[in-house]
Amino acid sequence: MAKRSVSLVPTMGALHDGHLSLVSAAKKKSKIVVVSIFVNPIQFGPAEDYKRYPRDLKKDLQLLKAYEPIVVFSPDAKEMYGTDFRSFVEVSGLGEKLCGRSRPGHFRGVTTVVAKLFNIVKPDYAFFGEKDYQQQLIIKKMVKDLNFDTQIITIPTVRESDGLAKSSRNKYLSKDERKSAPVLYRSLIEAKTMIQAGEKDPQKIIKEIKRLLSGEAPIEIEYISIVDPENLEDIKKIKGKVLIALAARVGKTRLIDNITASAK
Ligand code: PAJ
Repeated sequence: MAKRSVSLVPTMGALHDGHLSLVSAAKKKSKIVVVSIFVNPIQFGPAEDYKRYPRDLKKDLQLLKAYEPIVVFSPDAKEMYGTDFRSFVEVSGLGEKLCGRSRPGHFRGVTTVVAKLFNIVKPDYAFFGEKDYQQQLIIKKMVKDLNFDTQIITIPTVRESDGLAKSSRNKYLSKDERKSAPVLYRSLIEAKTMIQAGEKDPQKIIKEIKRLLSGEAPIEIEYISIVDPENLEDIKKIKGKVLIALAARVGKTRLIDNITASAK
């Protein structure tokens, strides 16, 4: 254990086991662990769920008690942005792919708040989840390009027992939608199996994922992409390691998931 290093776990609260696995990893790395809880307005589009995003600071603090000593930083929007905020951090290119296509400005909001958190907390390590693969990749690029003195550590996705990736937004799902949602991960596993069995054509795999998802009524696909895990560029023929990423609406709730797979 590095003795007096500082680890940061940035979150938007409504904490679940996914967030807590990041906190656990941070506790193993550093004596001083800071968890930020801040629903960041500038990463939500005008038609998105900023207002109704789940907030329960009392419950979050209760959950974090198990990790004491721990520093919780939960500023409000005025403290973070004041009344005349004009400076933004943007990782061009990467931020416009996958989720960036349907959420213009989202990653600019993420990198801006994370840059601010890094400057406020000055962490040696910061922890992010693989569930938001594109997010952690963009933050790594920001750190490299702008010489932040913070090492980014990425933690595997924590799932429900039926495979659904844990997410604060799972709370929005109706009973029927919750029953349908695990097909997202099942379809990713099927795609990985096809790649491991030698399938090289991304279009064939995407077609199969679409077929599996179309069997579940409340699901509307936003994107299914098979890309290079380093630059998120679409792949024409599968070789080496690839990222399969998808976003879909289950009823009104937008969920994302991803998996990596390596060709034979
Ligand atoms: P939030 O959605 O609260 O997620 C906080 C961190 O928890 C992110 O790094 C995310 O990838 C990770 N996480 C979420 N679900 C996970 C799961 N099932 N398994 C493992 N890790 C999981 O992501 C954000 O907040 C914000 O964009 C933020 C980085 C805090 C900037 O505002």
